[in-house]
Amino acid sequence: MISKDTIAKIFETARIEEVVGEFVTLKKRGVNMLGRCPFHNEKTPSFTVSPAKGIYKCFGCGKAGNSVNFIMEHEHYTYPEALKYLAKKYNIEVEEDAQTSESIEADNAKESLYLISTYAASYFALNLHEQDEGKAIGLTYFRERGFSDATIEKFQLGYSLTEWGAFTEAALAKGYQLEYLEKTGLTIVAENGRQYDRFRGRVMFPIHNLSGRVIGFGGRIIKTDPKSPKYVNSPESDIYHKSNILYGAYQAKKSIIQTDNCYLVEGYTDVISMHQSGVENVVASSGTSLTIEQIRLISRYTKNVTVLYDSDPAGIKASLRGIDLILEEGLNVRVVLFPEGEDPDSYSKKVGAAELKEYIESNAVDFILFKTNLLLGETKGDPIKKAELIKDIISSIAKIPDPIFRSTYLKECSSLLGVDEKVLIAELNKLRRKSKLAEDNEVLQPTEDEIPQVEQPRYNVVSTEPQERDLIRLLIAYGKQELELPNPDYHKPTEDEEVLEKQEEYFKITVAEFLTNELVKDWEFLKFENGNYELIMEEFIQNLKNDFIPDDQYFLNHENPDIAILTANLVSSPYELSENWKSIHKIDVVIESQLIQGAVSGAINNLRMKRIVSMIDERFELLKNIDTEEERNALLEGLVELINVKKSLSEALGIVVVR
Ligand code: UTP
Ligand code: MN
Repeated sequence: MISKDTIAKIFETARIEEVVGEFVTLKKRGVNMLGRCPFHNEKTPSFTVSPAKGIYKCFGCGKAGNSVNFIMEHEHYTYPEALKYLAKKYNIEVEEDAQTSESIEADNAKESLYLISTYAASYFALNLHEQDEGKAIGLTYFRERGFSDATIEKFQLGYSLTEWGAFTEAALAKGYQLEYLEKTGLTIVAENGRQYDRFRGRVMFPIHNLSGRVIGFGGRIIKTDPKSPKYVNSPESDIYHKSNILYGAYQAKKSIIQTDNCYLVEGYTDVISMHQSGVENVVASSGTSLTIEQIRLISRYTKNVTVLYDSDPAGIKASLRGIDLILEEGLNVRVVLFPEGEDPDSYSKKVGAAELKEYIESNAVDFILFKTNLLLGETKGDPIKKAELIKDIISSIAKIPDPIFRSTYLKECSSLLGVDEKVLIAELNKLRRKSKLAEDNEVLQPTEDEIPQVEQPRYNVVSTEPQERDLIRLLIAYGKQELELPNPDYHKPTEDEEVLEKQEEYFKITVAEFLTNELVKDWEFLKFENGNYELIMEEFIQNLKNDFIPDDQYFLNHENPDIAILTANLVSSPYELSENWKSIHKIDVVIESQLIQGAVSGAINNLRMKRIVSMIDERFELLKNIDTEEERNALLEGLVELINVKKSLSEALGIVVVR
């Protein structure tokens, strides 16, 4: 762990214009600097750097953050990697925090697993090149598959001998401990205490993590043997978590960034054969269905995935669900179908490098359209099947986070399916509401023909994210400002009354105190949906206890990169009251404070209002399915109360309600 002091020093020293300036040409524009965004293609610059705030923000693609965020995003670094990069740039010595004895032990244990795995990979490679059995069986097999020496080297391929304990004995003789050998899964200890190798008589495929360390193995049998599985894989261990790993990612990383695309194939041999053909941006999920972690790993490098399928229809149908998951993460998915009986491995061997690339490029089709066509072929005019198909396709489209892409797909599918676009929109909106995917104001344009089949209660639709964001923005931007509020205990002394104690008519309170008080007082009811906003609020409360009010700089340099990015977005909002704006509109201090006061109470009442409306809707919904008179009366009573609260809130907010 990099020490807090070092992190603070890095944040203090790094200058955003220098950090960004290394990758982007910046021109001065007023107090800010402007350049072409490195994160998306643009002709007119909209990438703004604010040296004063220490942040960047692209008004084209919305990317924003501080120096560390920039390096993480641009170089695809993790948080500690980005910190180390900046420390190096500014000659800051990196101190690591002293570790507890427990964490040292855990680190040492993990390190032992890494060392054993590395040793095993070189041991298996040595078998392949120097042992008679390895050469005769393993190397011959790889040669038959068409793998060159360079490819064998690149993937550190190897061979495990048929003997029961060859590897385990060699490793023990080298001084590796049985405990750790067993933990990597390379050695199996039977109940009777006998030790033997997990991998015997197999060609070996080491699995690497992103920094290139060996963490596990896959082993393929050579002769078909009905008693043994074709592939044996390392079990999960403290260093090998299958759901977080993609085979080939280490070797593919660079090429994925360069080509801005990632090919997804089935297994080890597909990855290696494609490399052999000069296609290097390829990874495999290795047998298991794709996980969210694996998709996020890809999305660190590119937003474009091309899934390569062999032409086995059952396999394709089984994988469709997994692909919805990729869509949900906001990635663009294309599909390539290989000719009958071919997979990427066999096809690349058959046609050679140039033709393989050409085939993939000219046969890649958009996933949604592929799926539509695939399933349409099966409905054969059966209306029930077709209705199911529409639901299925729409459920895929509903997963896509970008509303513009969604509507483009709806148009295309409407013509492919021969179904009115409005019907598809209605179906999609229904789904998005149900799954809470819809943001408050971004449900596709409502159509009057949206038939309310199963009406979804509105309280599901209503997200309070915009109101919460507004509150947090005010907290960060104006937390230190003082408000003058009427003292609720104050009463005007009558003329003959003796004034015992002088009472103030107004009292002063900071925006931060006021807002956190209001929120805490009613937290059951006002609790934020967005966990990051809640974190920010909690930090305010903690710091207020020590009479410190955090500001934008505090959160822009936050050690949690998500919070820093969120803050950069909040404070670079074009609606911010700028000094300029104030001078243009001749707003004086008093008016500003009144404006803020209005904004602050407005924001909190807006959140209340949103929640009340949900509760009212919820009760109306309940009312539909009520049996006894008693229950109905109780519910109605509650409703009347809620409606009254809503009315007074509306008055406070200056909204006229007709209901
Ligand atoms: P294949 O069955 O095509 O394996 O599975 P292969 O080694 O290419 O065998 P042949 O030569 O075509 O008969 C493709 C991929 O699926 C994974 C492996 O990663 C393999 O590369 N797989 C397959 C497993 O993980 N386990 C298995 O039992 C089978
Ligand atoms: Mn194969």
